[in-house]
Amino acid sequence: MGPFRIHLFVCTQQKPEGVPSCPANGSLAVLSALDREIQARGIGNDVQLTTCGCMGLCDEGPVMVIYPEGVWYRRVQPSDIAEIVGQHLCDGKPVDRLIWNDASAMKAMSVEHGEHFRQAMAARDKAGMLPDRLNEMIRGFMPSRCILTALELDIFTVVGDGANVEQIAMQLHANARAVGILLNALVALGLLSKSGNDYRNTPESARFFVQGSRDNHRDGLLHTANIWHRWSTLTDAVSRGARIPIAGATEWTANFIAAMQRNARDRAPLVVKALGTAGVRRILDLGGGSGAYSIAFAKASSDVRSEILDLPEVVPLTSEYVSQAGVSAQVSIRAGDMLHDNFGSGYDIIMLNAICHMFSEEQNLDIFRRARQALAQNGRLVVQDFILNPDKAGPQHAALFSVNMLVGTDAGATYSEAEYTGWMKVAGLSEVRRIELPGPSDLIVGRVKQSL
Ligand SMILES: C[S@@+](CC[C@H](N)C(=O)[O-])C[C@H]1O[C@@H](n2cnc3c(N)ncnc32)[C@H](O)[C@@H]1O
Ligand code: FES
Repeated sequence: MGPFRIHLFVCTQQKPEGVPSCPANGSLAVLSALDREIQARGIGNDVQLTTCGCMGLCDEGPVMVIYPEGVWYRRVQPSDIAEIVGQHLCDGKPVDRLIWNDASAMKAMSVEHGEHFRQAMAARDKAGMLPDRLNEMIRGFMPSRCILTALELDIFTVVGDGANVEQIAMQLHANARAVGILLNALVALGLLSKSGNDYRNTPESARFFVQGSRDNHRDGLLHTANIWHRWSTLTDAVSRGARIPIAGATEWTANFIAAMQRNARDRAPLVVKALGTAGVRRILDLGGGSGAYSIAFAKASSDVRSEILDLPEVVPLTSEYVSQAGVSAQVSIRAGDMLHDNFGSGYDIIMLNAICHMFSEEQNLDIFRRARQALAQNGRLVVQDFILNPDKAGPQHAALFSVNMLVGTDAGATYSEAEYTGWMKVAGLSEVRRIELPGPSDLIVGRVKQSL
């Protein structure tokens, strides 16, 4: 007896444009419809829905197989899903009109497909062609640049409930031919839809990219658009060994803090849970940004008082976030520079969330030493960051973020657990340990055990 009453596999194997495949025939829409219908009927705990790779039956896609019966369905469409879930999954009666049970034909098609695939791969290899994986990585900037430009121009908001090229170009004060080319690329990327001359937002774009939508991410994503310009200097930065200042860089503090807030708001409760609030009265939140972590601690315990130290230009934004959260009585804000200012004394926790990667080893060690002096007995220094593997060549997000720091800061980088642990110990902290959190960053925590 397996762990599930029913196990469904839906093929979602992506293939190059123009090559027959289940996704090209709509398997992703089938997958979402299945998930919705299974949840709506309350059988989610009985049924395991799994995506799978190519089964060699691509011309007949979308293909799906259901176990334990081993029933195969072909050319499934979203409109078939209510019947499959109701009749087959709930009542145990397969949907005859969609069943594909010509095993010998299926086997022959699959074997033939496998042979063609291997021959095509061998021919490409012999011709010295770049593998798809490399091509995708190399050209990855193209979709990215289209989305970022659309966000910079606020095209998704302008498209609104629907508009044609001339209307959109007029609102943007832009060239209609060029706007049309970009709009068509956004349609090809699945970010807009097109009917005749009219363009519309997809439900996803309307939700995440349009001003006024509750889940609008545009402000934070404009930070990524700003980062683009820095990344364009990477070749020079590597050659010279230093970041290249960008002439005429636009004011981007608000976008940066908005991007930080989006991320920190979701992570802060995880950090509060990992550290706990027992015995925590005074917190120093170095480079607190949007204040998300101080806000989460204040909301978790009325005993907590937190001080945020951040740069003068950020403080008005921090104040706004703290006051919106309704915790101004518990969270105070100090304008300053953590590289030079006195931290004070008697803190139970000093937090460095997404801070250490901005600084050099020497700067971090100096911050750790001064933080150690400012902690109370039993107090904790808490670092949250992307932590590199011991050889520093992964995980990928941490290694790429180090490049982000190379092009964006004077001496920043991402660091390994051994480096953080070493600095904590040199600074006089004990019981240093790593706490793994869901998502890309972890905590390194050290405690004050002996008096100075
Ligand atoms: C990557 S953000 C992290 C913000 C916040 N801790 C979070 O995790 O959401 C870095 C923060 O450090 C602040 N910062 C950078 N250099 C600083 C300095 N020398 N002194 C104080 N704050 C600084 C920035 O203004 C920004 O708010
Ligand atoms: S892509 Fe689905 S079976 Fe080949």
